[in-house]
Amino acid sequence: MTDDELLARFEARIDRGEKIEPGDWMPERYRSGLIRMISQHAHSEIIGALPEGAWIPYAPTLKRKMTLIAKVQDEVGHGQMLYRAAETLGITREEMIDQLLTGKATYSNVFNYPAETWADVALIGWLIDGAAIVNQTKLLLGSYGPYARAMERICFEEGFHLKQGYDAICVLMAGTPSQRAMVQDALNRWWWPIMMFQGPRDKDSVHSAELLRWKVKIKTNDELRQEFLTKFVPKILAFGLVIPDPELRFHEETKEWTFTEPDWDEFKRVIRGGGPMNKERLGVRRLAHESGRWVREALDAFVREGRAA
Ligand code: COA
Repeated sequence: MTDDELLARFEARIDRGEKIEPGDWMPERYRSGLIRMISQHAHSEIIGALPEGAWIPYAPTLKRKMTLIAKVQDEVGHGQMLYRAAETLGITREEMIDQLLTGKATYSNVFNYPAETWADVALIGWLIDGAAIVNQTKLLLGSYGPYARAMERICFEEGFHLKQGYDAICVLMAGTPSQRAMVQDALNRWWWPIMMFQGPRDKDSVHSAELLRWKVKIKTNDELRQEFLTKFVPKILAFGLVIPDPELRFHEETKEWTFTEPDWDEFKRVIRGGGPMNKERLGVRRLAHESGRWVREALDAFVREGRAA
């Protein structure tokens, strides 16, 4: 078959809703696009564990501590599942980790901001995991089998993350005026990074057209942002919280939200390593990687000796 015939057959399979599996023929750009997206997603899960992980010793009650430990452990597990899914496309885990630690790979903008108070931890669990669920429940319908299957488990666990975040917000909002003020302050700081979480506006999205055509992405960045707003704005307002955007409005006629444009220059700076916490986040990962080196070497030696025996 010629390349054109192979591509036509590949696209017909995707149009029929079939999953593409690791040994199947795929265009090089499908493979490299998936490696970029899945490895970024994996890095986001691993780095995303850090802002909340740092709060484990300070969780306000034993129940919150146990819940947070479980959540952080889940996020690291998601990273492992996603690295595994990316490996099926011909990149090694070592290569991906190297790209992360040398700053070649990027990860989600939101994890480059500090979690200053316990209300930040609650808000991350509620709204960032909430935004992630909006995105990930579409990714599980995607065309690449190993990624879609990993997303099933991940979405299931993210549902628990969202509930624990929402529960922690409920307790704070039913608490003292200073607890409520802490949540409002967290919302003021996190709102704009969250508005950028689903990626640039569609007109500025580099990869969307191709990824949508091949059903790696099912919805555009703007569609996901709209869905997030529809789902969460009423809940945020029901708490009596104020969203720090005076222009945010729902239009009945178009069923669309309008809002103040986030600072996309800040977004570009943050994803390229210039956010308030980028250096610290990567520093912690490098330290963890170095301290784990002896374990990897011991395991490699064990496997080599096992093979030789
Ligand atoms: N944080 C960091 N970088 C982001 C981003 C975000 N929130 N949103 C978009 N970008 C980057 C893209 O990676 C791309 O940069 P690159 O070419 O260097 O990789 C650039 O901004 C342009 O974006 P776009 O063309 O729209 O990228 P995309 O089509 O891949 O869509 C996502 C962006 C995040 C919606 C998409 O990659 C996705 O759904 N990823 C999987 C889910 C995920 O990673 N979630 C994060 C944490 S749970």
